[in-house]
Amino acid sequence: MSPYAHITGWGMAVPARVLTNSDLEKMVDTDDEWIQSRTGIRQRHIAGEDETTASLAKDAALNALRVANLNPTDVELIIVSTSSPEHAFPATACLVQDRIGATHAGAFDLSAACSGFIYALNMATQAIRSGSVQNAIVIGAETLSRFVDWEDRNTCVLFGDGAGAFILQAGDEPGGVLSAVMRSDGSGGDLLSLPAGGSYLPASPDTILNKQHTIHMNGREVFRFATRVIVQATKEAVALAQLKIEDVQLVIPHQANLRIIEAAMRGLEIPAEQYFINIERYGNTSTASIPIATCEAIQQGRLQAGDNTVFVGFGAGLTWGATLVRWTGPFLPYRHIYPTSYRLWVAIRSQLLRLLRRIEGWIWGRNI
Ligand code: ACO
Repeated sequence: MSPYAHITGWGMAVPARVLTNSDLEKMVDTDDEWIQSRTGIRQRHIAGEDETTASLAKDAALNALRVANLNPTDVELIIVSTSSPEHAFPATACLVQDRIGATHAGAFDLSAACSGFIYALNMATQAIRSGSVQNAIVIGAETLSRFVDWEDRNTCVLFGDGAGAFILQAGDEPGGVLSAVMRSDGSGGDLLSLPAGGSYLPASPDTILNKQHTIHMNGREVFRFATRVIVQATKEAVALAQLKIEDVQLVIPHQANLRIIEAAMRGLEIPAEQYFINIERYGNTSTASIPIATCEAIQQGRLQAGDNTVFVGFGAGLTWGATLVRWTGPFLPYRHIYPTSYRLWVAIRSQLLRLLRRIEGWIWGRNI
């Protein structure tokens, strides 16, 4: 019998620096009233100089490991969903693997914009259900502030930075991720894009001059698309899990715009109090928004073991997806572990591996 993929740990990390709507009033032609009424956002967190996608992802992952009571060395798969990776390669997931000391893990990045966390959750679930791995970390992490045109009021008011992580573990008890829907429509790719920096349009003085390394968005079209697919994907995920809409206790939607979530509420017969919304404090953190919202829902007692929860997201690509999860919580602890106590050992190990590579290079006359 295939094991179930249970969510047994969760963690989040956001930068300390907060950018409020009134701060933005001093930067572009906007005002707090416009931003709040059109988006629901009051403030967002912005990465400082020493904070990156990998550093936020690592902190979220360590927090999640602590909740799951799992050692980094027990993890066999790390998926980082991000649209703001540290580099084209190596994968941000590999940087996280090294920094947390997950010495037995495969690691890769997944690019499906704001829907990425749903996609990544499904990929890790399938790896567990097939018996290929027992323990996985799924992380949504972004520093989109580095790709925003801070002179474009249409986009710069929307995005924030942060990371959230889930631990997935195999278990025989029914529960965990019970269904997933993943969809895409590449014909809408131009509605939300970061045009330059890839192989199609490599960086050049022209691309920099034309601000093609920043987010370009047709807000109205994305809005229309989002309100349609949230309803559709939620219904599909619930039906696939052989449940009814009235069996759902909590919906955690991607936090892109309060008005999009309200429109979705009108399309689904789920009472407003069964949605979790925290966009006012974080803005749109893209793929990190669902795990960050989940951490806060748990903190506020809104999500209990046994609850049927829908995660639903949409984003660039275009992509969208939803998943139905029967919430589990940590497996009973059989030992007490401190994932962060690995930190010193992990740093020494990483430096030792680099040194060994150099010594090998000297011996064999390679230039590293
Ligand atoms: N402050 C003041 N005025 C503004 C601002 C601002 N920050 N931004 C735009 N405006 C102006 C526009 O210029 C326009 O003025 P005009 O009529 O003189 O041309 C007016 O406000 C109305 O603009 P709209 O685009 O119609 O505003 P709308 O109500 O659609 O709200 C918004 C814009 C918030 C962007 C909305 O369309 C939206 O949220 N869309 C979805 C965006 C989204 O979710 N993106 C992320 C997807 S997830 C991912 O993959 C990253």
